Amino acid sequence: MDHRLASPQQAGSKLSVNAAALIGRETDAQALTALLSDPAVSLVTVTGPGGVGKTSLASHVARTLTPAFRDGVCMVLLAPLRPDTPAETEVARALGLRDSTSRDVLPRVLSRLERAHLLLLLDNAEHLPQTGPFVSALLDVVENVRVLVTSRTPLGLSREQEFALGALPVPRLGGTFQEVQTAASVQLFQRRAKAVKRDFEVRLDNAQAVAEICARLDGLPLAIELAAARVRVLPPAMMLGHLHSTLELLTGGPGDRPERQRSLRATLEWSEQLLEPEQRRLLWTLGVFAQGASLASISAVAGLPAHVALEQLETLARHGLIRVMTGPDGDGRFDLLEIIREFALERLVQQGDGDSIHQRHARHFLSFAVKADADLWGARQHEVLSALEREHGNLRAALTWALQHDQNLALDLAAALGNFWSVHGHFAEGRQWLERALDGEGSAESRARALCAAGEMARMQGDHEQAERLLSASLTLARDHADVGGMAAALNLLGVLAHNAARPDEARAFLNEALPLWEVERRDLGRTSPLFNLGRLSLYWGEPHDAVEPLSRALAFWRTSGNTHGVAYALYSLGRALLDIGDTGQAQHLLRESLDLRRAIGDERGIIASQTALGLSAVMGGEFREALPLLSDALTRSVRLGHRRNIAESLEDYAAYAARAGSAAQAVRWCAAARNLRAMIGAPAAPLDERQVAVTLSRARQSLGGAAYEREMRAGTLLDLDAAIQDALSLRVPAAPGVQSGPSTFRLSPRELEVLRLLAEGRSNREVAQKLTLSEKTVARHVENVFNKLGVHSRASAVAIAIREGLV
Ligand SMILES: Nc1ncnc2c1ncn2[C@@H]1O[C@H](COP(=O)(O)OP(=O)(O)OP(=O)(O)O)[C@@H](O)[C@H]1O
Ligand SMILES: [Mg+2]
Repeated sequence: MDHRLASPQQAGSKLSVNAAALIGRETDAQALTALLSDPAVSLVTVTGPGGVGKTSLASHVARTLTPAFRDGVCMVLLAPLRPDTPAETEVARALGLRDSTSRDVLPRVLSRLERAHLLLLLDNAEHLPQTGPFVSALLDVVENVRVLVTSRTPLGLSREQEFALGALPVPRLGGTFQEVQTAASVQLFQRRAKAVKRDFEVRLDNAQAVAEICARLDGLPLAIELAAARVRVLPPAMMLGHLHSTLELLTGGPGDRPERQRSLRATLEWSEQLLEPEQRRLLWTLGVFAQGASLASISAVAGLPAHVALEQLETLARHGLIRVMTGPDGDGRFDLLEIIREFALERLVQQGDGDSIHQRHARHFLSFAVKADADLWGARQHEVLSALEREHGNLRAALTWALQHDQNLALDLAAALGNFWSVHGHFAEGRQWLERALDGEGSAESRARALCAAGEMARMQGDHEQAERLLSASLTLARDHADVGGMAAALNLLGVLAHNAARPDEARAFLNEALPLWEVERRDLGRTSPLFNLGRLSLYWGEPHDAVEPLSRALAFWRTSGNTHGVAYALYSLGRALLDIGDTGQAQHLLRESLDLRRAIGDERGIIASQTALGLSAVMGGEFREALPLLSDALTRSVRLGHRRNIAESLEDYAAYAARAGSAAQAVRWCAAARNLRAMIGAPAAPLDERQVAVTLSRARQSLGGAAYEREMRAGTLLDLDAAIQDALSLRVPAAPGVQSGPSTFRLSPRELEVLRLLAEGRSNREVAQKLTLSEKTVARHVENVFNKLGVHSRASAVAIAIREGLV
């Protein structure tokens, strides 16, 4: 299996956040590097007070160690997480794992890292009690993963090596000018001061004051940075005066604060005193944002016009209180260091403004989410989804607050985020929020939508029972409130659920009920609609010809609404219908278009499906060289996603390939392995897939003979899934392609083969129609296609070929 990490460069880019060179940490960096290079050490925790430089040192060391790990470094920022969030969910995200199928994130993270060779950096773990158990479970299974944690307190694991980081050295009181100049804390002060005042230098006349400032601040880097930022307006000697008075105040305060924290608080309070009242207010307000905020969000929550907010933010940045980053859209994004955020929030609460600002924050992100949801399926989809992802921290913060203070808002917000969570595979997390919001109060419409979203995610996770319960509850609620849109949405998904569970009649009943309701307002339901689903039902469980019309109408609807996901899905399904009908050329055309669209929007499941179908169509066209890379890419991606139904389908396609390319024994084994897998996960093959498998198996039986066929079947049933996958992935294009593909029946579609087989049994068109529950007209069309493809003009000749080629 492929154990490479999804995106090592993602970790690299995060590491560059702290690009500024460290001052005075050479010895610490060396010692930490040595610890991490010691094979006996698997876990190191850098501890120390807030602002001492743990994150800076750890990311510096991680950066220099990157080449030493085959899979590089993965940095996970834990600070923005709620205390009850399991660390592994964020690790999964950093590894690029979306919880697409399994509700259990931990085993997936463990299996991804099991054979990885990397350095995992967990930053700011102090507030997450679950980190210890997670790291412990991780270290039990990995061989080549080192874990580096930063935390104000150790995790408390027996395997943990604590690396207590002290503050920067400060000059001796009354030391020489040279001693002052070379002390690391003074150098840090000088560098930051120079950044705000170009001509600043530590000179004879200010050296003592600077030295004393650094000493009073205990050499704590963050405190020194904040003080140095004031140099523009205050010379060091005056600064020292202010600092003294603040520190004295603090010393009189609660005695339980450790010395270092006191100096940091002193600096923070002092920095804030020097701000104008509105700037101070803005600083406190920023404490409610998580993972930064855009100018638009800040001005909305602070209730300031954008240009005023910007001006004040610039001042705060000059004072070293906030960081300015450039977002992916080129706009500025503003963020606070963790310790300053805690301070700001504390202030907000002290001022009695906490609730009103939190409420504005939550309302702002509710309207953001509602608007994003309305645009989610339109032409701006990609942009909207990235914006939602970028604001996920703020959305979580808003939900957390709302669940405690405004349950109506919480439910509205969770309902508005349902589609986002579902499209981006945040199933486990999304369901959790929805469940918590559903426990509280809220409007009937939001409740129905939230139930629907939770049901859809449960379905996608394969939790069918729960899905049915949630969707039925949504339907009942929508019915009680005459919410037509809500009813259509719930019935539609109940239809999909019944389709997945191999209950086509039930599915049709739901969809037929949903269709007229949906037609009333034709709300875009995303990748699905009753019209589309009725088409798919015919495709998988009925007659592909009947699928073409509804699928084409669904395609047209999505083309006008600009829903790329929908367009790609409809093109794919039409392609599959044409493939089944036997129009391989046109099918390939549509499938390629769907693949291009899906690649453009990064729809991983969609890419797999389109590639699989294209691979299959190439197999059916005898184009082995084209087929193999498509099949192997689809299988590799399915394995990486851990999507077992896709894996089963991929194996069946490989079998179709093998049966035609001279590897009949393997074909039989893979079909058996896929059948096993399907039984295990409760995803039986629909007739569409079954037709294909039947063709594969009958070809294989013909070339192997009955006894060998049975033997391979038994071998396949016992075949371990991993082995089957390895076996398939090592398949090569046959030396003389097409040698084994001689039969003229080769180009017949599975449906046509079925018809031919019945003709060979001597059945009339009417009997064939009855047997296959098709119309006589459709059967006549199939018969005509069979004649054309075999180049014959009569039933007798067609049957003769079928017998000669061992099909009957
Ligand atoms: N050795 C250093 N040289 C230059 N700048 C430093 C150094 N150490 C820390 N800093 C700066 O001090 C500030 C605080 O550092 P950092 O965020 O690494 O602290 P931390 O210990 O991780 O704090 P917290 O516990 O709040 O996460 C940052 O702005 C960082 O750039
Ligand atoms: Mg930190």
